[in-house]
Amino acid sequence: MERDQAHIKLEELRNLLEKYGYHYYVLDKPLVPDAEYDEKMQELIKLEEEFPDLQTADSPSIRIGGAPLDAFVKVQHEIPMMSLGNAFNEQDLHDFDRRVQQGTGEPVEYMCELKIDGLAVSLLYEKGSFVRGATRGDGTTGEDITNNLKTVGSIPLRLNKKADIEVRGEVFMPERSFENLNEEKEKNGEMLFANPRNAAAGSLRQLDPKIAASRNLDIFLYAIADDKGLGLPSHSKSLEYMKELGFKTNPENRLCTSMDEVIDYVNSWLDRRNDLSYEIDGIVVKVDDIDHQEDLGFTSKSPRWAIAYKFPAEEKVTTLEGITLSVGRTGVVTPNAQLKEVQLAGTTVKRATLHNEDLIREKDLKIGDQVVVKKAGDIIPKVVRVLDELRTGEEKDFQMPETCPSCESRLVRLEDEVALRCINPHCPAQLQEALIHFVSRNAMNIDGLGEKVILQLFSHDLISNMTDLYKLEREELIELERMGEKSVQNLLDAIEASKQNSLERLLFGLGIRFVGSKAARTLAEYFETMEKIRSAGIEDLIAINEIGEKMADSIVNYFDQPEVNKLLDELKELGLNMEYKGPKRKEAAEDSLLSGKTVVLTGRLETLSRKEAKEMVEMLGGKVTGSVSKKTDVVVAGEEAGSKLDKARELGIEVWNEGNLTEAASSLT
Ligand code: IVH
Repeated sequence: MERDQAHIKLEELRNLLEKYGYHYYVLDKPLVPDAEYDEKMQELIKLEEEFPDLQTADSPSIRIGGAPLDAFVKVQHEIPMMSLGNAFNEQDLHDFDRRVQQGTGEPVEYMCELKIDGLAVSLLYEKGSFVRGATRGDGTTGEDITNNLKTVGSIPLRLNKKADIEVRGEVFMPERSFENLNEEKEKNGEMLFANPRNAAAGSLRQLDPKIAASRNLDIFLYAIADDKGLGLPSHSKSLEYMKELGFKTNPENRLCTSMDEVIDYVNSWLDRRNDLSYEIDGIVVKVDDIDHQEDLGFTSKSPRWAIAYKFPAEEKVTTLEGITLSVGRTGVVTPNAQLKEVQLAGTTVKRATLHNEDLIREKDLKIGDQVVVKKAGDIIPKVVRVLDELRTGEEKDFQMPETCPSCESRLVRLEDEVALRCINPHCPAQLQEALIHFVSRNAMNIDGLGEKVILQLFSHDLISNMTDLYKLEREELIELERMGEKSVQNLLDAIEASKQNSLERLLFGLGIRFVGSKAARTLAEYFETMEKIRSAGIEDLIAINEIGEKMADSIVNYFDQPEVNKLLDELKELGLNMEYKGPKRKEAAEDSLLSGKTVVLTGRLETLSRKEAKEMVEMLGGKVTGSVSKKTDVVVAGEEAGSKLDKARELGIEVWNEGNLTEAASSLT
């Protein structure tokens, strides 16, 4: 094809794909079958490859994910991305209404919007083209995630007008996509995302846009950054204008003429929230009229003209159908509640851990009881209490067994422990769990070898301990269900690659009591070889700051066992690395950014758990403490950081965001 002709064809394909995409992602009403869209997309990609100079930054082909970045660049929000005050009940909403009417001197109209549980982003358009997308960060400084946002199908790359505009909204992962993603992760033995919000945040924080592209993210836009500047009279008109430009706004938004109407709207969503295909955690109520908004103004953190009503944690009543037992890798026998399936905050719940026998007694649970369940924190289902007034007399008491449900050896209760344990070292359930732990992410991190595959290998008698993993052969694996040539090869490659892991992974993977991944790293850094750890005495161990007597005892006892020594010799024979490969202990601490510094973590972190963040600080040589004082050197502030951040600013303490921390830590490894 000639260049001129290609130029015309490219424009035609881009317009067509944009139209198809808009109908599919924004309006949710596809114009053509998926295959036709894919075909046109391939045609576009091919032509762009043929004529690279005709590539444009807003071509729909960018949706499949451009080139990976080395790091995210910081973005200053000229108009800060504020957060909202919270309301937890009707009274809080009435109080808000009273304050608003005092400020405006007259009754007002409120725009009610679903509070999408995702991640706030800002999208900047110049002459109608999407030029930059950023996270909220701490509200003034975010990160440039343009490439990832371009992969979100419902974010227009070109607007219907050549407008210069910045809009804000919430990126989220629909529940179905979240479930599919976690299913896939489980199959591959990877860590699961706790909830759709974390999954969305994790996807946007990937440097490789192809990952975000594969995650099926979506967006609802809820504000124009500078609606006053545009002369729009009300928030509802802003939303209409955004829709006209081609943005996806939420169809459930409702303009209410009184607080009573707002409360009806709020209550109507308490039940209906489960019918949505995405998660919401409340309702945002905004004064509609822009002049009224101006009368009310802002506090230092949030507008006085809006409030977020937060839903209470959902509780449901269901039947406790039975109590089953599981045996952990250390032999602890844990009772689990088997529940009649119930929908709770967007997912189906049928199990909850009951921790131990004492808890069952404390809550006075009987099999057949009606119980109240809710999700603790974000996703872990929990039995809150029994409704004993609903008992029929048919309910049965639960007795912990005297023998192990897996190997039938007698269970024992160790001193000072509530838990019952199986102490048979050959107990199959324990061996299985030990292997699941051995291959897990913080241990040997063997891709493709998750819980399901381990159980499959076990049930086919292909493995019974760690050494067997390294003796697996192609011929025996290929016989298994769901194992094709490719997956067998990948699995064998991943197992082979794990032999080169640095010592701390193996050490953690062994599952020595009280030795977590952090202690394993400390031990590996300090002793450098497995040989030295094996021969270390109690004194050598407690000489290390982070190792206490209890852990030292456990380590020495572990390496005293003849079968452990046999296991380690065999693993060595099989070619597993037994040496530490990470940065040297002292060097890491001296030249790293936080060496000797005192750090406070505050606010909601998006991609890290508190524990991970703390570990990163420690890896960088710092120490984490709880409160901000003059002695604090750095405050790491996540979303919605509160008084600690204010105090840090007051004291002039250096403030980092989550990205600064992960960046600093990634320079270490
Ligand atoms: S308005 C200045 N509208 O909730 C007010 N926020 O603390 C800006 N959110 O960080 C927020 N849905 O990420 C607004 N319809 C909605 C929202 C919404 C979700 C999030 C947003 C913000 C947080 C409020």
